[in-house]
Amino acid sequence: MRTKTLFTLGLLITAISLTAQNPLLIPGTLSGTEFNLNLQNGTYQFYSGINTTTMGANGNILGPTLIMQKGDFVDITVNNNIDDTTTIHWHGMHVSASNDGGPHTTIAPGASWNPQFTVMDKAGTYWYHPHLHMKTNEHVSKGIAGMIIVRDDEEAALDLPRTYGVDDFPLVIQTKDFDADKQIVTPSNSDDVIMVNATINPVLAVPAQVVRFRLLNGSSQRVFKIGLSNNLTFYQIGSDGGLLSEPVALTRLQMAPGERAELLIDFTGMDGQTVQLMSYAAEFPNGIYGATYPGMNQSMTLDGYNPNALNGSNFNIIAFSVGAPNGNPVTAIPDALVEVTPIPEGDADVTRDLTFSPEVMGPDQLNGNFLINGLSFDMDVINYTIQLNDTEIWSITNQSAIAHPFHIHDVQFFVLDRDGNPPPASEQGRKDVILIQPQETVRFITKFEDFANDDVPYMYHCHMLVHEDGGMMLQFEVVDQTTGLEDVEFGENELVLFPNPLTDGVLTLRTSGEHAGIVAYEVYNLTGSSLLDVKPGGVVREVKINMGGFPEGLYFIKVTTGNETVTKRIVLQ
Ligand code: C2O
Ligand code: CU
Ligand code: CU
Repeated sequence: MRTKTLFTLGLLITAISLTAQNPLLIPGTLSGTEFNLNLQNGTYQFYSGINTTTMGANGNILGPTLIMQKGDFVDITVNNNIDDTTTIHWHGMHVSASNDGGPHTTIAPGASWNPQFTVMDKAGTYWYHPHLHMKTNEHVSKGIAGMIIVRDDEEAALDLPRTYGVDDFPLVIQTKDFDADKQIVTPSNSDDVIMVNATINPVLAVPAQVVRFRLLNGSSQRVFKIGLSNNLTFYQIGSDGGLLSEPVALTRLQMAPGERAELLIDFTGMDGQTVQLMSYAAEFPNGIYGATYPGMNQSMTLDGYNPNALNGSNFNIIAFSVGAPNGNPVTAIPDALVEVTPIPEGDADVTRDLTFSPEVMGPDQLNGNFLINGLSFDMDVINYTIQLNDTEIWSITNQSAIAHPFHIHDVQFFVLDRDGNPPPASEQGRKDVILIQPQETVRFITKFEDFANDDVPYMYHCHMLVHEDGGMMLQFEVVDQTTGLEDVEFGENELVLFPNPLTDGVLTLRTSGEHAGIVAYEVYNLTGSSLLDVKPGGVVREVKINMGGFPEGLYFIKVTTGNETVTKRIVLQ
């Protein structure tokens, strides 16, 4: 066993010396409460001397790291200068749907968008990227993506490395496909170039002490199995939505597209050595994008996938070249981090069952498209209406032959189980992406708080961008119907609207009391368009409104009686 390890290391060292190494690009930072992002076209030399056409934010490639403080009210201006409509989504952050930057919140070429929100998230590593329907992959692959670091008092109280670019480094890990002219190809299943922060064959000088890395799998499709070349133990301290309760000692960590992980590596005493961060993709079972065969069944092929040196083999991601410790080193891995309080299963108000399936069965199924509950994305259909403050369990079964990373906007969730078994420690923190293997059922629990009744929905989708663009995405809205459930007293009249939610399409308005009576009513949709405007004639005590022909969602009913006007919300299901 020992001989084999040494032999493998020897091969690695040979391989490393054959490729020129490039110093890792460290994206600049923006901090404070006002942020400006200029989305632009550009060119960038992934290969020295060759210009590749790219897109970036405030530069030719990627975007600045945004450093935000929990509790701050931030004001962001996004200027779109890329000659194409796009959007910018704050992945993992808990913001209202209209600030979330999903596919409905488009920014036309030459236009600006100005989201403003209070940072409510725990200290952690989030990210931003375009989210235009059917163009997400192109805009991300061409280069628009950036990290968001949220800081808070809880994290600040811990003895952790946190000096950006000194002992705390962002690692945006991506694969791309370049054509013969070194231009980026999308969509593609032939992504055979691995890079970190847009640097191919990167090397990073690190101090001989505890160093923090914020990893983001920003790839369009590829899953990584992160490990270190010498099987050195590393410590995961954070998952998608912030810090774990305690560091988890690991030698491997699976990371699917969209997932983040904060790691500590203790380089103490390793001055002069080089350590490779690798993907041990040879360890993947089939049925995962990154394995030798991307489908469970080897006869299933994915166009363009093989041959590719990254599929099913171990490869280097970045070399860490260890130098002298710096000024104020952190020298120990902390014993404990923050309090993580998972939501108890018994708190759930609703359980939803979801399935992933291929649109076409059989050996060609990996080429897509893929469906959620048999459905494909439709901008005009709200798939779920969720009650504000409800706790829900989502039970997701993958009936397709390839693993899909599921992502939901608005919330962070806790994984309850994978096929009935508790998740590994690295998945016991707050998450917003979870990889679901073929034939596997994953259940998570989450609570929909703070934001409701917006005029655009939130997304839930596969974070393989080729699948997402192909329609493996649905949408939900959160509604606060509490006002609609109660009888409202106004003047001497009493008005009741029922049932709410409205399930059979017929809404009844009824008044009682001495002078009660309805003289007019209007029905509005979320965008404020009037759909019905009726004066029944005279004063009536009860009217029935047939809303059965309207799309599901939230409506406002404005009712005028003899002496007052009241507007109430109704959910049509
Ligand atoms: Cu990272 Cu809906 O996306
Ligand atoms: Cu997201
Ligand atoms: Cu997918």
